[in-house]
Amino acid sequence: TYLQEDDLTQECKSLIASSAKEQGWVLSYLYLYQGFWQPSRQLQGVLTCQNHFNARNTDIILATTPKSGTTWLKASLYALVNRASQSPRGLDHPLLKSSPHDLVPFLELKVYVDHQVPDLTTLPSPRVFSTHLPFGSLPISMRETGCKIVYLCRDPKDTCISLWHFANKLRPQHKGKISLEEAFDKFCRGVSLNGPFWDHVLEYWKHSLENPGKIFFLKYEDLKEKPIFHLKRLAEFCACPFSKKEENQGVAEDILKLCSFDNLSNLEVNKNGKLSSGEENRSFFRKGDVGDWINYFSPSMIERMDKITREKFKGTTTKK
Ligand code: A3P
Repeated sequence: TYLQEDDLTQECKSLIASSAKEQGWVLSYLYLYQGFWQPSRQLQGVLTCQNHFNARNTDIILATTPKSGTTWLKASLYALVNRASQSPRGLDHPLLKSSPHDLVPFLELKVYVDHQVPDLTTLPSPRVFSTHLPFGSLPISMRETGCKIVYLCRDPKDTCISLWHFANKLRPQHKGKISLEEAFDKFCRGVSLNGPFWDHVLEYWKHSLENPGKIFFLKYEDLKEKPIFHLKRLAEFCACPFSKKEENQGVAEDILKLCSFDNLSNLEVNKNGKLSSGEENRSFFRKGDVGDWINYFSPSMIERMDKITREKFKGTTTKK
């Protein structure tokens, strides 16, 4: 269901005509826009989002690098900010029936996709949206209002492996698979969905240091290691800290249980459902492990990627 050229705005058509392009991982080309690689369909969504999104002070925006655990954090954030009206223990919790991607939609991939401009003003606060956009491409209102940004990233080696599996699930059968070598080389050269990966992380990292009340920087590995600790920090950041009573009732634990890989991936909706953009919900759940790259990378691949990471992240404490 890719856009026909005629459906693109003039702005998007001229960008496509004038931007650097590379063959993407799935079907469409990737175009270099404001320093990051975007597939053509998404590019239209990015432009429409930049032109039309009006942030509110109470908005919470989940920004991530693709395959860093977005689905997990979408679910957790949704359960967290709605817990007063929707008990995470409830048998009718929306997460039991709907994909996290439908409850917390991507701005450029869903809300504004195909140049649609829906009315978002009637949505109750806090509105929670997500995006893969790099910091520098966020709609201006997001940077200028008091809206909060939660950023999630992941070890580049695990991100690359996860993206490779995901791309292969999305490729039509007749196209065959993209080899790990080809995908890896593209990733290292920065030619990946919203890549270069390292620049994406660094931009948010720098801004989170400058403005910690505005941007909450989180790593997948940390969330795995100390989920309760980080969920509580996240609740404070989102201005909905857990009360003493909730602590005693174990509400944070309930949210984690609801949003765990095992629970979400075994739900009917996530096993057999599909997103309106065409992806099968199950393609967002693979293993959910830390360090799975060890099963795929050769020593020379490890060396190449570690070198890039060392050079790019030099001087930060954002290791790997
Ligand atoms: P793997 O491919 O390494 O298993 P995204 O949601 O950003 O597309 O990222 C997908 C990655 O997050 C996949 O990683 C997926 O398995 C993992 N994931 C999905 N749901 C998760 C959950 N509830 N807990 C932990 N990891 C999860």
